[in-house]
Amino acid sequence: MCGIIGYVGYREAAPLLLQGLKRLEYRGYDSAGIAVFTNGSLVVRRSVGKLGNLDQLLHAQPVHGTVGMGHTRWATHGRPSEENAHPHRAGKVVVIHNGIIENYLELRHELTAQGRVFSSETDTEVISHLIDQYLREGRSFSEATRAALRRLEGSFSIVTLCESEPDTILTAKNATPIVIGLGEGENFVASDIPALLDYTRQVVFLDDGEMAEVTSAGVAFFDFHGQPIERTPRQVTWDALTAQKGGYKHFLLKEIHEQPQAIIDTMRGRILAEQGDVSLGELDRHPPLLDTVKRITLVACGTAWHACLAGKFFLEELARIPAEVDYGSEFRYRHTPLDKNTLVLAVSQSGETADTLAALEGGKACAAKTLAICNVVDASIPRKADMVIYTHAGPEISVASTKAFTTQLTALYLLAVYLGRRRGVLEQERGRQLIADLVNLPALVQEILGRERTIEKIAKKYGHATDFLYLGRGVNYPIALEGALKLKEISYIHAEGYPAGEMKHGPIALIDDQMPVVVLLPKDPVYAKTLSNMKEVEARGGRIIALTDAPSPELEEIAWEIIQVPTTNHLLMPLLLTIPLQFLAYHIAVYRGTDVDQPRNLAKSVTVE
Ligand code: AGP
Repeated sequence: MCGIIGYVGYREAAPLLLQGLKRLEYRGYDSAGIAVFTNGSLVVRRSVGKLGNLDQLLHAQPVHGTVGMGHTRWATHGRPSEENAHPHRAGKVVVIHNGIIENYLELRHELTAQGRVFSSETDTEVISHLIDQYLREGRSFSEATRAALRRLEGSFSIVTLCESEPDTILTAKNATPIVIGLGEGENFVASDIPALLDYTRQVVFLDDGEMAEVTSAGVAFFDFHGQPIERTPRQVTWDALTAQKGGYKHFLLKEIHEQPQAIIDTMRGRILAEQGDVSLGELDRHPPLLDTVKRITLVACGTAWHACLAGKFFLEELARIPAEVDYGSEFRYRHTPLDKNTLVLAVSQSGETADTLAALEGGKACAAKTLAICNVVDASIPRKADMVIYTHAGPEISVASTKAFTTQLTALYLLAVYLGRRRGVLEQERGRQLIADLVNLPALVQEILGRERTIEKIAKKYGHATDFLYLGRGVNYPIALEGALKLKEISYIHAEGYPAGEMKHGPIALIDDQMPVVVLLPKDPVYAKTLSNMKEVEARGGRIIALTDAPSPELEEIAWEIIQVPTTNHLLMPLLLTIPLQFLAYHIAVYRGTDVDQPRNLAKSVTVE
């Protein structure tokens, strides 16, 4: 999820682009760059790291001109560096991009065979080379750009400039956002409204398959085949901070609502539906490393540790490989017998958590193979690991992790199918079903997002409680832990997650008629067992909030509240059951007036022991 901005008009472009990128920095901040027309030629300035570095560079090497574009990067392909920063130039053309080009390797090979030389590791650079290639074949800038767009697969919003047309910005959208800002004698392009609000409130959101030719005099809209399209501007009323939150009250709520897209982006380019298989390019490049793996040790902290607990079920059931899970802070000081047949799998959103990093290093020191699942490209943990699977949740701003968690579960599920197929323990037909269920999942998550109001009412009813208990069995026990953690960290209410079967060995003593007890009750092989645990709670007067995909009159009898979720296979139910727990914690925190996005005593990335 990168930040994009473009400007054509009468103002100095460089300071305007920089200001716009500052408003978009929440979208990505590992490198940045601008391109501005100066005396008819395109001058590019790029820097790695925070926007401040680009600001300094532009002070040292200013560029003047009234037409340009800017980009702040959230790496997906290629580590954060000046070469991988955008814009990317090929001949007369420069391009900035937000999204993931799934067929970029294929296009890169084709263009390399035609003698083109690539200077970055990014997927984006193929776009500038494609456009430049079609230009050299005599097409106009617009035709060349459209021809290139028709070759791309995946998600992409782009802005491109060409030295042969110094007064024109071309932009196009497929899956990731682009908004056009309309001015008097000037016009703007951006990936998000915050970048435009200082200048205009008249906007047009491009739809998938649409492109726009933007000049200072006006904007014309077309499809990717050049057919003109009528678009009507609309008025925006948000202030910049609200806009950064996409109109949501908190980044946490925005990130909860971003989960369908985050799960889609994490599985993008990795699904082989017909073969009932998964492609993990990162692992395909290291086959020998995996062939000898006999056991997996998953290490992580906090929410990522809960993802590992669920991942253990995925790996053991689908890949038939023994898996154990450990806290990074515990594992790093325990002399676990590891060897070259062990895979140490470190899971981390930030990739900088000190205890998880040290646990990974400990594994490496014992000759274990190492794999990282991480959301930040080129962070310390993925840099240290032999192999890496990146989740594509985009930047997670709120301290409490939500979309990173569901994308970690998605990545662990993909890994389990990948290993199961390669170890010959997962049949193609079952693989097909498992993949089909995953592909259908974002729509089911979207369905639950539509039930936020119902959960908000329940949150207000129980938001005054001083303690909560969360119960789950099997692969849903980790989700009980995660629900309890979300509530603890943002509402400051004491909460515990427990295996439902374990409750009668102690915590049942806590239950009275003031204790809300959240029970995860999917219609799975242990449904009946969990139902009987629920009856034990009901017998002690506990106030049961049941989450299920199979409501029944019997359940109506026992539960004070029932939150229904759609159904999917038993290994993916955790991803669905998590969403209502995120909403419950969020609305209780709002009800209690805590600082939802920056809760007390917590940090987004814990880089100390
Ligand atoms: C979760 O909401 C918390 N922010 C925290 O528990 C977090 O999961 C933990 O610190 C691990 O962070 P990481 O995924 O960046 O390694």
